[in-house]
Parts: sequence; structure tokens; C-alpha cells
Amino acid sequence: MGGYTLTILGCGVMGQAILSAIYKAEKSEDAEIQSRYPKKIIACNGDLQASEQVNQLIKSFGESPNGIVVESTFGQNKEAIKESDIIILGTKPYLVETVMKEVEELVNDKLIISIAAGWTINQISTYSKNVTRVMTNTPAKYGQGCAALAFSESVNSTQKELVKTLINHVGMCIELPEKLFDAATSLIGSGPAYILLMIESMMESGIKMGIPLNESLACSLKVMEGTVKMVQESGLHPAVLKHQVCTPGGTTIAGLCKMDEHGVKAGIIKGIEEGAIVAAKLGKK
Ligand SMILES: NC(=O)c1ccc[n+]([C@@H]2O[C@H](COP(=O)([O-])OP(=O)(O)OC[C@H]3O[C@@H](n4cnc5c(N)ncnc54)[C@H](OP(=O)(O)O)[C@@H]3O)[C@@H](O)[C@H]2O)c1
Ligand SMILES: *[C@@H]1O[C@H](CO)[C@@H](O)[C@H](O)[C@H]1NC(C)=O
Ligand SMILES: *[C@@H]1O[C@H](CO)[C@@H](O)[C@H](O)[C@H]1NC(C)=O
Ligand SMILES: *[C@@H]1O[C@H](CO)[C@@H](O)[C@H](O)[C@H]1NC(C)=O
Repeated sequence: MGGYTLTILGCGVMGQAILSAIYKAEKSEDAEIQSRYPKKIIACNGDLQASEQVNQLIKSFGESPNGIVVESTFGQNKEAIKESDIIILGTKPYLVETVMKEVEELVNDKLIISIAAGWTINQISTYSKNVTRVMTNTPAKYGQGCAALAFSESVNSTQKELVKTLINHVGMCIELPEKLFDAATSLIGSGPAYILLMIESMMESGIKMGIPLNESLACSLKVMEGTVKMVQESGLHPAVLKHQVCTPGGTTIAGLCKMDEHGVKAGIIKGIEEGAIVAAKLGKK
């Protein structure tokens, strides 16, 4: 597969995040891993402005450690697909059908990596037997994204490893059965919004009690970041760490019990579930 061409069909916010991640990936000493990177990436967009934006982005990075060349185009979808071995489908979900109709005949069972929310492997299989479905999120722009992957039956182990190597650069990726993708859409895709609500709430609590806005925000962010590190590095269950912070009769347990009274935990769980319920409905349309 080494030295292949990758097309990003619809290279907007998410497409550019994935493009940057792959382009900037460190050079691997391992020849097999090295062969999983494309020699060329073609970014396809609908208009000149979007293609210029991709050019600017690439210019800001300097040379790719793996020597990847990027060609940014608009209105050249057919030419790009003809030339490519693998396709990342990055348009908005409602445009998938229109964009794929135009290039359908040229796909020839090439591997399609689809990031379109709500589009199932089965639906994408109309265009190619070889499909990877991806659900990721906006922190991918900063190399801190989370991605869930599911593969169609015909994707072999070599291709799976290739996709995992590429997508891992958005931050982290895991394989999940496709039946869990509505849950992943809410937990991963919408996840940043839920965390932002938590940050905003902590920040406003600080302001309410007299801590200035900037200081409240800085502290809320560091508490969030530090707690994540603590869970990761200790390897302990969050509930164990939580109880370690609770002095008997102290402030922390009082705060936690008050939050419980206000249904914070149940609200978070119900809210994330609601997102998944809506994701399932959107998928059926
Ligand atoms: N944003 C998120 O948080 C998020 C999270 C999870 C999944 N996703 C998924 O990611 C996908 C992309 O979302 P996005 O936010 O990155 O959208 P976006 O920024 O609008 O990017 C879509 C790109 O597709 C291009 N495009 C439109 N028509 C085209 C055509 N006929 N041929 C070639 N390119 C065309 C657009 O270029 P022009 O502007 O030039 O038309 C645009 O750059 C969606 O399917 C979404 O479900 C997004
Ligand atoms: C796609 O899948 C078919 C089997 O359905 C397989 O023969 C072929 O090698 C695959 N092609 C690519 C480029 O992945
Ligand atoms: C998987 O498919 C690709 C493309 O068709 C091929 O190059 C590769 O050798 C296959 N790998 C295995 C393990 O079958
Ligand atoms: C708050 O932070 C912003 C951005 O860092 C800065 O521009 C602003 O001057 C700060 N305000 C105060 C009151 O410190």
C-alpha cells in the first residue's frame, strides 16, 4: 500500500483536522508503519476560498516529516477519485449523496473512510464494499480528538491497521461495534459541549463567589486537566479518587451531596443518553 494517494472529499473543519494530523505525523523508523502513510493527499472542496484555506494551512506547517505532498483543489472531485487509492469522505452528511453520485463510477471498491454523522456502513456500501465509519470530535483540530472506528466485513487486517495508524493521529482511536455508534455520537461527538458546560458552570461558581472571571476560568481548566491526569496516571477508579478527596464531615462531601440533591449525575447521564436517542433518529431518515 506504500506510496498511495489519499483524497479528502470535502476538506472543511474535520477534514482539515485529519489532514493536519496525518501531514504532521512523525516519521516512523519501521518500514511497515511508514508504508501506511500516503505519498500524496488531495484535498477536494466546493469553492476556491476553501481550497486556498487548505493551502494556507499546509504552508503554515512546513515540510511533512513523512514527505507527504498535498494538492488542494476545488471542482476536481472526479479527477481526484480517479487518481486515489483511499477516500476520506468529509462533507456534511446532507451532501454525501450528491457528492458521491458524481464520482460513484470511479470508486471501484476503493476504501472509503467516512466521517459523516448518521451514515451507516450499510448506506455507504452502496458506493464501495470497503468502508470505515468514524465518529470523532472537534478537539481533533488540536491533536486531542477522540475517534471511534467500525469496519465493513471486507476490510482486511492490513487496511484496518492502516486506518488505525492514520486516524490515531487525531488524538486517539478505538474500534467499536457499529451498533454503539449512536452512543459514540453523543459521548464523543457531542462530548466537548458537555464538558464545556461543566467548565462554564465551575467558572460561574467562582465568579458568583467573588473570584474574577479570568482567574475562575484558569482555575476551572487546571482542575479539569489535573484531574484527568490524576485518573490516567494513578489508574484508579474515579469513585476511589473521589472518596480520597472527601474528608469526613468536610467541604467536599458536602458539595457532592448538594450536587446529588440537584440531580447533577443523573442529569449528565440522561443528557448524554438523549443525544444518542436523537442520533439514532437522525440516522433513520
Ligand atoms: N464538526 C464536528 O464537530 C463534527 C463532529 C463529528 C463528525 N462530524 C462530521 O464531519 C463531517 C464534516 O463536517 P465539518 O464540520 O468538517 O463540515 P465543513 O466544515 O462544512 O466541511 C465540509 C467541506 O465539504 C466541502 N464540500 C461541499 N460540497 C462539496 C463538493 N461538492 N465537493 C467537494 N467538497 C465539497 C466544503 O467545501 P466548500 O466550502 O468549498 O463547499 C467544506 O469544506 C460531517 O459529515 C459531520 O457529520 C463533524
Ligand atoms: C475491497 O474489497 C474487495 C472485496 O469485497 C477486495 O477484493 C478488494 O481488494 C478491496 N479493495 C481495496 C482497494 O481495498
Ligand atoms: C488487504 O487488501 C489490500 C488491498 O486490496 C492488499 O494490498 C493487502 O495485501 C491485503 N492484505 C491482506 C492481509 O489480505
Ligand atoms: C482576561 O484575559 C484576557 C485574555 O487572556 C485578557 O485580554 C484580559 O486583559 C484579562 N482581563 C483581566 C481583567 O485580567
